[in-house]
Amino acid sequence: MKLFYAPASPFVRKVMVFIKELGLEDKVELVKISTTVIDQNADLAASNPVTKIPTLVMDNGKGLFDSRVITAYLDSLVSSKSLYPAEGEARWDVLCMEALADGLMDAAVNNRYERGMRPADKQWDAWSDGQVKKVHGALTALDGMAASFGDRIDAGIVGAACSCGYLDFRYPDIGWRESYPALGAWYAKFSKRTSMQETQPPS
Ligand code: BEZ
Repeated sequence: MKLFYAPASPFVRKVMVFIKELGLEDKVELVKISTTVIDQNADLAASNPVTKIPTLVMDNGKGLFDSRVITAYLDSLVSSKSLYPAEGEARWDVLCMEALADGLMDAAVNNRYERGMRPADKQWDAWSDGQVKKVHGALTALDGMAASFGDRIDAGIVGAACSCGYLDFRYPDIGWRESYPALGAWYAKFSKRTSMQETQPPS
C-alpha cells in the first residue's frame, strides 16, 4: 500500500497513528507530497479526484479516502487488534467521537487556510469566528467526556489526540488546556504513547 501524506495534516497523523498502533508500518510506503486547492498534485489526483490527503492506494491500485475510510480499512486488515468496537452502542459512540474530532480538525484547518493563505483584504472575520466557535464546541464536548477516557484506545480517542496535537501545532495561543482541563490532563498522558511521539508535526 502507498499513503500520500503531508506531515502537517492532523488527518494524516490520525492515519499514521493507526498504522503504528496496528503494527502495519512494513505494509505502507509513505509518499510525501504538497498539494493545495490552487495547486493540486497530479499524482494524488490520479488516485483521488478531489485531491485530498491522506489518500491510501491499496495493493489492488485503487485509491481510498477520506481519513475515516482509511482508518476503517486499516483496522480491517488486522485480526488481532481493533480500534473500533464491533457492535452496539459502543461502536456508534466511537464512530461519532471520531467524527467529532474530524469536525474539530476541519474547522481548525479551514480557519488556518483562511488566515494563512487567503489575501488579507478577502478574509471574512465572521466566517473565521464561526470556525473557531466550532473548535470550542468540539473541545467542550471532548472535555465533558474526558473523565471516562481512562486508558482506552480507539478511533475516537486517536482522533481526539490528533485534534489536541493540531491545536498545539497551529494554535499555540488558544490556551485550550486552561479552558478544558480534563481533556488536557488526559492528553498529557496519551501524547506520550510511541505512536503519538513518532508522528509529531514538523517543528
Ligand atoms: C497545515 O499546515 O496546517 C496543514 C497542512 C496540510 C493539511 C492540513 C493542515
